[in-house]
Amino acid sequence: MSNLLTASIGRKLLMSVSGLFLILFLLVHLTLNSFLLLDSCMGFEEGQLFNAGVHFMGTNPLIKVIEPLLALGFVVHIVYSLILTLQNMKARGSQSYASGKKTTGVEFASLNMFPLGIAIFAFLVIHIINFYMKMKGFIHWEGGEVEFPFFGAMAKGENAYALVNETFQNLSIVLIYIVGSVALAFHLAHGFWSAFQTIGWNNTIWMPRLKVISNVVAIILGGGFTVIALGQYLFF
Ligand code: HEM
Repeated sequence: MSNLLTASIGRKLLMSVSGLFLILFLLVHLTLNSFLLLDSCMGFEEGQLFNAGVHFMGTNPLIKVIEPLLALGFVVHIVYSLILTLQNMKARGSQSYASGKKTTGVEFASLNMFPLGIAIFAFLVIHIINFYMKMKGFIHWEGGEVEFPFFGAMAKGENAYALVNETFQNLSIVLIYIVGSVALAFHLAHGFWSAFQTIGWNNTIWMPRLKVISNVVAIILGGGFTVIALGQYLFF
């Protein structure tokens, strides 16, 4: 166990597993957020489906267990990325300039995983302040409760839709979301397949497939969050 936390391969393994766990969270998060654009098309009043989804996530006991795990996933991923980056910088030292190796052909994303991670972290701080802190009552917000259909009955809960909709009327915030989502897409285009490679799924048949899946996941997540923020700004 101590080897897992300290040996270089153990640290990479923890980064990969936590990264894949965070991708899973993001896929669920995107699905819920897509209700922001879809509810009117699905016969609901504007915001009803999203509010029901947020209510479900906020009251589901399983989600209450997963939330601290999610926070732990972020902490592990960020702490180990710092350790590994410092370790790599130290190992390379002055040789990085002396090697003379050309880096052409190496993907932009694979060379910039750490700066991309910092951009995503900065985005996440703004995002948590904008939404999570207000929803959980850490920052004052004039919300108010609304009614929405919930498993065949009517339920009451916070008007999360109003918060998101109001936030995305500000173009500067929408631009921050677009930059954050693009950084996320590049980070995942390399991070997804690289995580599988670290956990040992690196045979010649699956590696090319995983690289394609990586790009698909990156486009779905990065593109999806961009479309939602921009769609809310332009059409709602
Ligand atoms: C259009 C884009 C997005 C929208 C509309 C959105 C919306 C929200 C909302 C409303 C919450 C608060 C939920 C609650 O407290 O009940 C939240 C929380 C959160 N979001 Fe996002 N989000 C977006 C993109 C992202 C992205 C790109 C990331 C990660 C890179 C992210 C990570 C998180 C995390 C970690 C939380 C706190 C945990 C949680 O409440 O589930 N979100 N988001």
